[in-house]
Amino acid sequence: MNIPQQGLSKEEILNTLQAFKARDMDWKAGKVWCYVYNPGEDPAEVTRQAYLSYLNENGLDPSVFPSLLKIETDVVRATINLLRGDSNAVGHLTSGGTESIMLAVKTARDKARAEHPEITQSEIILPKTAHAAFHKAAHYLDVKPIVVDIDPQTFQVRAEAVRRAITANTILLVASAPSYSQGVIDPIADIGRIAQEKNLLFHVDACVGGLHLSFMRKLGYELPAFDFTVPGVTSISADLHKYGYAAKGCSAILYRSKDIRKYQIFASTETTGYTLINPTMLSSKTGGPMAGAWAILNFLGEEGYKRIVQEVQEATKRLIDGINAINGLQVLGEPVMSMFSFKSDVINVYQLADEMNKRGWYIQGQFSTPLTPRNLHISVNQGTVHNVEALLKDLRACVEIVKGMVPIDSDMIRGMVAAALQSHDPAVAFGQLAASAGLAGTELPSEMAFINEVLDALPDELCNVFLVNYFNDLYV
Ligand SMILES: Cc1ncc(COP(=O)(O)O)c(C=O)c1O
Repeated sequence: MNIPQQGLSKEEILNTLQAFKARDMDWKAGKVWCYVYNPGEDPAEVTRQAYLSYLNENGLDPSVFPSLLKIETDVVRATINLLRGDSNAVGHLTSGGTESIMLAVKTARDKARAEHPEITQSEIILPKTAHAAFHKAAHYLDVKPIVVDIDPQTFQVRAEAVRRAITANTILLVASAPSYSQGVIDPIADIGRIAQEKNLLFHVDACVGGLHLSFMRKLGYELPAFDFTVPGVTSISADLHKYGYAAKGCSAILYRSKDIRKYQIFASTETTGYTLINPTMLSSKTGGPMAGAWAILNFLGEEGYKRIVQEVQEATKRLIDGINAINGLQVLGEPVMSMFSFKSDVINVYQLADEMNKRGWYIQGQFSTPLTPRNLHISVNQGTVHNVEALLKDLRACVEIVKGMVPIDSDMIRGMVAAALQSHDPAVAFGQLAASAGLAGTELPSEMAFINEVLDALPDELCNVFLVNYFNDLYV
């Protein structure tokens, strides 16, 4: 577009924006099983109003907006208390799980730079199930990711494998509570012991589990400890904008003490401009997400969260049992909370996801690894619990439809990928591959099965290049 000569009316603008959503998936109806965490209309409305009431306040400078210092400190302290940190524990609010994780890695890197200048290439040890945000952090911060395989049955990393991966360059151990992909908790107590023994920092990624698991514990569910009560855990990320049901743009990065956190904070007086002091990555930032998080914590209260968590857990159990009862589908590992994945040895799960998509459901495809099968992911949240039976009914129907379809010829696709990889001109080969997968130009694909098949067949490094090229074309 071009900026119009004369501005449009408010109605025109809002209606047009609303119309843009026509092709979006219907998360409000609870048909999107990831990405959106909906606590229901009343809590969402309180959050919305709180968010808008702080839209223009700038979190850049607490001396001008002390209210945002108060709000951030309140939310951080409440989250630390939930994760059973003591009065030495500290933290900040960030824009999301990725920023929290990037800060945890930066903190570890800068602490190592100060205390171990002999390390020239610092390393972080990542279970194969660790979120991609750690790889992004490693990429941005020039830290080397050392990936450790997981047990292909339980999807947990083995603590001894983590120990074996430690070198003189290791600056940080990582585990998930739970991992997004299969929803299982790593052996955090065991890794904590190793971290203490080796005097290493240890980050627990509780971006999805921080709040939900804590309320499960309060409800009496048997869970392994994953929080600050585990000796050796030095930092935790916990997203308010996931199972805290806050509006997007809010996560907490928490540290056991200020001695560690100080490596996160950046200050600069080197310029002709104002004094810049940033504890997090962003500088100017709206107060909206912080105010929204403060509002939802106080609106739901412990009782509200416990009620939601109970309902979500009951729905998850019905869903897992229902999926396992469908001939041809099987839930992977033993998910601890409300996210899990399932595979099929009988049908192509990507075709199943496409069939479900035609009925308005969004279920996320995940790729295979050398040890684990391709699968579909489901995150249950309060906004989806009413749809468990409807989802199961359509899953049963769609499995039968896919059984009757011509299966995608995986061997043919692997052959096509191999031929493209041997081509002399990788750019041309990638272009051809993208075109045959329906991933070219600025149009979004309507079906994903064939594309997922191609992506799954590509080695990781090349798949990443392929996707970067695709996004480079997709966006202006
Ligand atoms: C376990 C885990 N860590 C980190 C992240 C990244 O969070 P965000 O998307 O808020 O940046 C996610 C996102 O789903 C996650 O599941």
